[in-house]
Amino acid sequence: MKKISIFAALLSLLVFAACDSGNIYPKEISFEHDGLVAKLTGEISGFDQWPEEYDLVLAAFGKDSPYSIVQKHVSPGSPLVLDNISPQASTIELAIVDRLRERIVTLDKVEVTDAMRKNERDTLRLEVNKVDAGMFSTLKRVVFVEKGECSRCHGHPDKAAGGMSLLPEHAYAALVNHTATVDPTQTRVVPGDADHSFLVRVLTPGNSGLTHYADHPNILNNEQDLKYFKLLKDWINHGAKE
Ligand code: HEC
Repeated sequence: MKKISIFAALLSLLVFAACDSGNIYPKEISFEHDGLVAKLTGEISGFDQWPEEYDLVLAAFGKDSPYSIVQKHVSPGSPLVLDNISPQASTIELAIVDRLRERIVTLDKVEVTDAMRKNERDTLRLEVNKVDAGMFSTLKRVVFVEKGECSRCHGHPDKAAGGMSLLPEHAYAALVNHTATVDPTQTRVVPGDADHSFLVRVLTPGNSGLTHYADHPNILNNEQDLKYFKLLKDWINHGAKE
């Protein structure tokens, strides 16, 4: 009880002091624009394909953590504003995060510079133009193109290893419900069943000997890659939609 009354006394002192000085600046005591403000603009599609455990967000991330500091769900109909961003943020990203707010994939981003931190009242702009944020489009980009460079060997259909082209325009038809070449008892992607999809078995770390290319199981093998691998399996288990 005592503590509370001392606190109340202090509070009333502060209030009176503030009134006495006559210096009340509404802008400075408003919390609405405390911290940085970021605005996302652009045409984003593919919202509806993601299973519940993933979320498409505009988020601020610090330098050393994959967990967002603050985030807002992106839904059809931009623009979107994120405010109260701590100056510790180092990037503002359009990203896919999981339930724990951990970043799975960055779709686009802008770095927060010291100049931006100093000028807090300026809005940071993340202009993404056109982004296909669909689940399969995202997988193709991050796993088949950026990470796996699969098309080095699985390129044009005429000369693709295993007769399987993973170029963005061919990948879906080449994978989903398609019989495997090296083992015709297998299907490359069985919608709804990642464990029985040859694609998953070939890429599973430690699963050697399924093809003549020994490095397949080493393509997705570090911490970030395992998030991609889980994404691939989740895509299949949720129906492998195009
Ligand atoms: C350096 C070349 C190379 C790269 C890079 C490569 N592969 Fe392969 N892959 C092959 C070869 C060669 C085969 C056929 C192996 C055989 O005949 O045993 C193959 C076969 C496969 C098969 C079996 C296809 C079937 O129907 O039998 C899958 C699935 C596969 N690769 C997935 C991938 C994925 C996904 C990536 C990228 C993440 C990738 N590969 C990157 C060389 C490569």
